[in-house]
This record gives sequence, C-alpha cells and structure tokens, in this order.
Amino acid sequence: MAFQTLHEIVRRGRQNLSRNHWDYLIGGADSETSLRRNRQALDSLAYRPRILNDVSDVAVSTTLLGTPLRIPVVLAPIGSLQVFDAGGGAAAAEAARDFGVLQILSSVCLPDFEAVAAAVPGPRIYQLYLMGDQGWMDEVIARAMAAGYTGFCLTADTQVYSRRERDILKGFVPPSGSRAGASDFSYQARMTWDTVEHVKARFDIPLVVKGVATAADAQRCAGLGVDVVYVSNHGGRQLDHTRGCIDCLPEVVEAVDGRASVLVDGGFMRGADVVKALCLGADAVGVGRLEALALAAGGAPALVRALEILEHEIRTSVALLGAGGLDDLGPGLLAPAVPVNAPGVLSAFPLLGEDY
Ligand SMILES: Cc1cc2nc3c(=O)[nH]c(=O)nc-3n(C[C@H](O)[C@H](O)[C@H](O)COP(=O)(O)O)c2cc1C
Repeated sequence: MAFQTLHEIVRRGRQNLSRNHWDYLIGGADSETSLRRNRQALDSLAYRPRILNDVSDVAVSTTLLGTPLRIPVVLAPIGSLQVFDAGGGAAAAEAARDFGVLQILSSVCLPDFEAVAAAVPGPRIYQLYLMGDQGWMDEVIARAMAAGYTGFCLTADTQVYSRRERDILKGFVPPSGSRAGASDFSYQARMTWDTVEHVKARFDIPLVVKGVATAADAQRCAGLGVDVVYVSNHGGRQLDHTRGCIDCLPEVVEAVDGRASVLVDGGFMRGADVVKALCLGADAVGVGRLEALALAAGGAPALVRALEILEHEIRTSVALLGAGGLDDLGPGLLAPAVPVNAPGVLSAFPLLGEDY
C-alpha cells in the first residue's frame, strides 16, 4: 500500500466512514474525560535520550504468551469490527498473521470466533463478555480452545454498558454480532474474582484480565495466576474521569513484579507512544482505534501497512533514545513534561487539520 504515514491512513479511514460509524469509533463515555486523559498522560511524558551508544542493529521483536511478536503490539479487541471493513474480525486476523502480531478477537464482532479461526488459523486470544451463566462460559471457552485459541481474555471494566452520548443522541446502536448463543449482558455485572479463579482452575489456557487500573487489582490477578494483566480504561469508553492508562502502568508493573505479563492500551497511536509504555515496564501495547481506522482505510492490507509504519516509528524512537533494543529501555529515559497539543483522540496527528 502506498501510505507513507499513519496520518494518511487515519485520514483515509475517516473519509471512508459514515458519521455513525465514525462517532461509534472515536467516542468515549459521558464527558470523554477518560478518553482525553489517555492522550494527556502520554503527552505528559518527555524523553531523556542517551547518546553515543551503538544503535546500528536495534531489535524490537518480543514474545507474548510464547507467541512471537514482530513489534511489542497487540490488536485490541474491537466489537462490531465488521462496520469498519466487511471482513470484520477475519480481516484483522489476516493482518495480524501477515505482519506478525497477536490479535485479541472481540466476542461481539463478526464473523464469530470459530469462523475466524477456520479462516485464519494461528495463535489468537479470544475476549469474552459474559452473556450467560457459568455453564455457558465454560462451553464457550471449551469451544474456543477446540478452535485453536491460545489465550482467553475477560474484560472486567464493563460491568454495565456506559453512556456514549454521540451514539445516544443519534440513536445509533452498534450491530455487534456473534455472542456465542447468548445475549444477557447482566452476567457481566455479576462477574467476580470467583470467575477468574474458576477459569484458572478449570481450563489450561492462558488468562488475560483486561481493565486493570490499580496495584491492588493487579496484585490479586497475579496472586490468582492470571497470565496477562491488561491495563485499560476501554479507550475512555466506560468509566469517565479515570486516570490516563499510562499513569496506571507503573503501580501495576510494580505490583505484578514479574509474575505475569503486562499489557496496556489507551490512546496509543504512534511508535513513540508505544516506547513510553515499554520504558515503564509494559511487555506490549494494545492498539484499538488505530486498528479500526486502518481497516476502514483499506482492510487488512492497510492494517499491515499501519503496523509497518508503527514498526518504523518504534525502531526510530528506540535508536534515537540511544537504546540498542527493548532490554535497554527503562523509566530513566522518561521525565514529566507539559503537553504541547490539546489532548484528543486524534491529537497525535497534527497534520490532519492541515493541507497534507
Ligand atoms: C469501537 C470500539 C469497540 C470496542 N470493543 C471492545 C470489545 O468488544 N471488547 C473489549 O474488551 N474492548 C473493546 N474496546 C476497547 C479496546 O479493546 C481498547 O481497550 C481501546 O480501544 C484502547 O484504546 P485506543 O482505542 O485509544 O487504542 C473497544 C474500543 C473501541 C474503540
């Protein structure tokens, strides 16, 4: 694909989306403060680069749950992906395979998880919203394992569905899609630590808990043997007035203390954003809106192109920090700073408002 910058991909994605689908993608809950804080927190960190280290061969690949990642990035679970590209979750799966990262497939997305696994075999994590009782959940996990999923993700920050005013005011309801045969969202509100313990005791599949924001919950996850602690505020789409996600990362990394892998998402749009999280101890970073915007710009090939550009940006940032690879990154390369752009979902792309 001919895109040379992420900003072109974001612009094309926007051009290709209807107002309803654009608002569904970029919106947040209530006042959209959590959404903006994600960017504000990222922009409130400046780099303290080192010089005169050999950076001629910077390595940026890693592994998560034993799966090689060409860059420390995962595709975050996005519901209703089929509105961004007709291929939906299968298009994201193709891009993840072709580029070499891990996809977390949403359970409210088409095609359903078994069809995606059949179309694009390979390592993949299945994210579930509880829409039925324990027996229902157990059956879905068993089916996901039989279909070849290599990880299972419970999203814990969505006890109830939030109020997203962009959608409410237009009466827009996302089409969602596969719910593995059940649709009672009230089970999400009843999910507890017992659910986590049950999944760990019953199933031999790595477990991801998504939506962690505090050391206390991270500590509890690690104590229960959760394999991946995923710091997230759902892209600012659930509880309003949370901290920016990167601000939650240090206390979570400290609490986990190496007992689990740590993922973080929320506002990550650029390679330099990703590298900040790696400096603070994240093992990998989730991208949500960037994934959907790239699919809207041109399906799986555009998402592969976005990941290639992200890789270029990550490599450039690591080299210019004077780090030979990911192992050389650390909190000493960061310092507090005052953001220079007004934070917003697209503020990482200042050229969007200009004639480029
Ligand atoms: C349109 C949209 C749909 C989403 N659907 C889900 C979902 O089905 N399950 C889930 O756990 N998170 C969902 N999320 C949250 C993302 O997984 C991720 O946490 C968030 O998008 C990260 O922030 P970013 O968009 O700024 O990268 C969704 C986010 C968006 C933007």
